[in-house]
Amino acid sequence: MDGDATDTFDVARLVHGFRPPPQPATGLDDVQLAAADRRMRHWRDPAGGPLVPGSDRHADATCRMFRDTFNPYRPAVLDWPVLEPAVRDRIVALPIWDIAVQTEGKARLRMAAYAGTLRDPGMRDALALNAWEEQRHKDVLARLVAAYGIELAPEPVQHPPRDPEWAYLVTGYSECIDSFFAFGLFALARRSGLFPPALVDTFEPVMQEECRHILLFANWAAWHRARLSFLRRVRFEAKVAAVWAFLAWERVGLARAIDADGGACAQDNNFTLHGARTVADDRVGVCRLLALCLAENDRRFAGYDERLLRPRTVPRLARLVLRLAKPFGWRR
Ligand SMILES: [Fe+2]
Ligand SMILES: [Fe+2]
Repeated sequence: MDGDATDTFDVARLVHGFRPPPQPATGLDDVQLAAADRRMRHWRDPAGGPLVPGSDRHADATCRMFRDTFNPYRPAVLDWPVLEPAVRDRIVALPIWDIAVQTEGKARLRMAAYAGTLRDPGMRDALALNAWEEQRHKDVLARLVAAYGIELAPEPVQHPPRDPEWAYLVTGYSECIDSFFAFGLFALARRSGLFPPALVDTFEPVMQEECRHILLFANWAAWHRARLSFLRRVRFEAKVAAVWAFLAWERVGLARAIDADGGACAQDNNFTLHGARTVADDRVGVCRLLALCLAENDRRFAGYDERLLRPRTVPRLARLVLRLAKPFGWRR
């Protein structure tokens, strides 16, 4: 079996009838890898006409997009390049590994828990597959941590959420924020040359998967809210507002990661918001980083059917900041 033998999480325990997608028994050859990579970045519904949010066609296109763009890579066959000691030390010192592993663990559990409550079989399968992919991200990280001798704090035990919808909304909107900044930071890391290209390439499919995840989330949210009665819709919008308030509170640093001993954790909950200095050695200003995040966000979404909705809030806020900063000539 792939992955950490002590990690017994199974999506099927929370989503009745879920079957993991088929994966090749061995690694893919270069031609197959290139084809899988192309497939995961491009998808178009062959049927014409609008995809009205909330309609069966919209749900069907969303779920097919997610299924058809699945990339069958196996973490077990990923190459971990041998690193120069200085590069290895830089990677080990990044303050993200505990948070990254725990975030993937939380995401898989919350997505699977919410998927298990859905009656629509297409959406249930899509969200369960998303949970399975988070599990695979955790597996990739576990292998990286083992390959480079990174020490992790003990993982707190995660329990299924009491309110699966709230937990899924928190995870989904979190991914919308983190992925937007991660796209830019990832491009910065690639350009800076501080990390070996082979290592950056290993994480490229993971990054594109996060793009698919938030594309699925944005369309699930639009589909879900369009089908609610007036009163349920009001309740849902209040919940969404509370989720954004919670995330804003968390991200401005009022919430500090607390380790198992109750002390403030040295790991960085907000790395995606201010990690530029860690992945590039020249000074990167807020505006330049936001512009790069926007460009990367557009590039990663460009291959998917334009009738599917994109996450809008974070790119809009970024554009607003850039517009407000322009008269001051604030470019760095
Ligand atoms: Fe993930
Ligand atoms: Fe994700």
